[in-house]
Amino acid sequence: MAYSEKVIDHYENPRNVGAFDKNDPNIATGMVGAPACGDVMRLQLKVGDNGIIEDAKFKTYGCGSAIASSSLVTEWVKGKSIHEATDIKNTDIAKELALPPVKIHCSILAEDAIKAAVEDYKKKQS
Ligand code: FES
Ligand code: FES
Repeated sequence: MAYSEKVIDHYENPRNVGAFDKNDPNIATGMVGAPACGDVMRLQLKVGDNGIIEDAKFKTYGCGSAIASSSLVTEWVKGKSIHEATDIKNTDIAKELALPPVKIHCSILAEDAIKAAVEDYKKKQS
């Protein structure tokens, strides 16, 4: 299977790999796994007091498409509100990266990671 140029670019030069302190009240952590393949993705959002995502980091144990999907969403979420971030759909990710059908679940992992991080944020705020 051939990877698209965008997947290869994100795979070779992943943006925002790393971690924030998960105990920081402004850090939201979403950790998700893909039942289809066992890959794991952790996405962390740094949320300002105004609810705007200032920064994002990820760590993904998985295939090139999963790494590219998480790298891409760290770029997409920056500057968005928590609410806007949840509007990012796996179909947008799959389209941007030109993922083939067998790799769609990798983009779903990234969408789920955003949702999990937003849930964590809400839990921390309440
Ligand atoms: Fe996920 Fe191969 S099946 S990395
Ligand atoms: Fe499972 Fe990509 S093959 S996340």
